[in-house]
Amino acid sequence: MGICTENVPKRRLYSGEEIPAIGLGTFGSDKYGAQQVADAVYGAIGAGYRLIDCAAVYQNEEQVGAAIKRAVEEGTVKREELFITSKVWNDQHEHVIESCKKSLRDLQLDVIDLYFVHWPFPNYHAPGCDGNARNKDSRPFSTEEFMRTWRQCEQLVDMGLARYIGMSNMTVPKLKEVLPLCRIQPAALEMECHPSFQQQELYDYAVAHQIQPVGYCPIGSPSRPERDRTEQDVADTQLPEIVEIAKAHKVHPAVICLKWAVQRGQIPIPFSVKEPQYTSNLKCVTEDPLTEEEMRLIQGVDKNCRLIKGQVFLWEGAGGWEDLWDVEGVITR
Ligand SMILES: NC(=O)c1ccc[n+]([C@@H]2O[C@H](COP(=O)([O-])OP(=O)(O)OC[C@H]3O[C@@H](n4cnc5c(N)ncnc54)[C@H](OP(=O)(O)O)[C@@H]3O)[C@@H](O)[C@H]2O)c1
Repeated sequence: MGICTENVPKRRLYSGEEIPAIGLGTFGSDKYGAQQVADAVYGAIGAGYRLIDCAAVYQNEEQVGAAIKRAVEEGTVKREELFITSKVWNDQHEHVIESCKKSLRDLQLDVIDLYFVHWPFPNYHAPGCDGNARNKDSRPFSTEEFMRTWRQCEQLVDMGLARYIGMSNMTVPKLKEVLPLCRIQPAALEMECHPSFQQQELYDYAVAHQIQPVGYCPIGSPSRPERDRTEQDVADTQLPEIVEIAKAHKVHPAVICLKWAVQRGQIPIPFSVKEPQYTSNLKCVTEDPLTEEEMRLIQGVDKNCRLIKGQVFLWEGAGGWEDLWDVEGVITR
């Protein structure tokens, strides 16, 4: 039995349009195959999900597109009730329109609801590559280059190929520089966000500029690829505070991370191919909310623990992965 979509909280974009306050991720983390992810998309739409977070680099848009088509043809959902996102990969920054058209073909859609620039660097690395892999052509952030990519995104809106455009993996210093240059503002910012990594400053900056934060790795990405793991990483679902609250609500700690995300205001996009997991991930935000005290307690567990460090995008001469994230408050070039 599906969850009544009317009970799923909503977020309002700058245009006034409402979209679901939670969605389904589709990155199989090199662990789950394209068809497995597509089957989950089909099942999740049946369960009541209406927002699906896709990307060309996840290498499953063709299968995901077939799953969406099937759900629409069977009358489970109308196309216009769905909010589908996709993203331009780092090697396509000069070919955004072609890249979006390819995703539209694969997803079997006429228009994408939200199209993201996946990373603000034009630095390619092969899907599934080792964490130590570097591309010698990689470059630091360039406002001029980024805006060239953004202009093509704006064109997508003009052409009716994208309803909204968005940015991902940005920092406050980068946003400060590019936002005044945008003709069409980003509707959303996809950013890593989970209890041990809340990015409060970036979150506040986005909200103040009417940019909806979309939180990736909302459960702390327990199945993330090897290249994205270090010994210092914290597991959100094992934090004593989260475990305690989960016990009190008689749910899995993963579910507490999602309740917190939706009540705080970002749109979490949890991934799962397992029916009981993705169903409970949606259902949990329609019932039994966290108390104010529990919300405060979770606010206190932030450990500034970034999981997706992005080191494969570093350029020659760069220091550590921190250089991608402008930790000194200025753009690292
Ligand atoms: N913009 C970007 O650069 C970017 C980067 C990363 C991710 N993303 C997006 O964000 C999405 C989510 O991130 P993610 O997939 O890395 O991490 P995540 O959603 O935090 O974690 C997913 C994992 O959590 C476990 N899980 C899910 N629901 C559960 C439940 N109810 N109970 C127990 N365990 C549960 C599953 O582990 P098992 O598989 O072990 O069951 C699942 O594989 C991605 O799929 C992708 O769409 C975007």
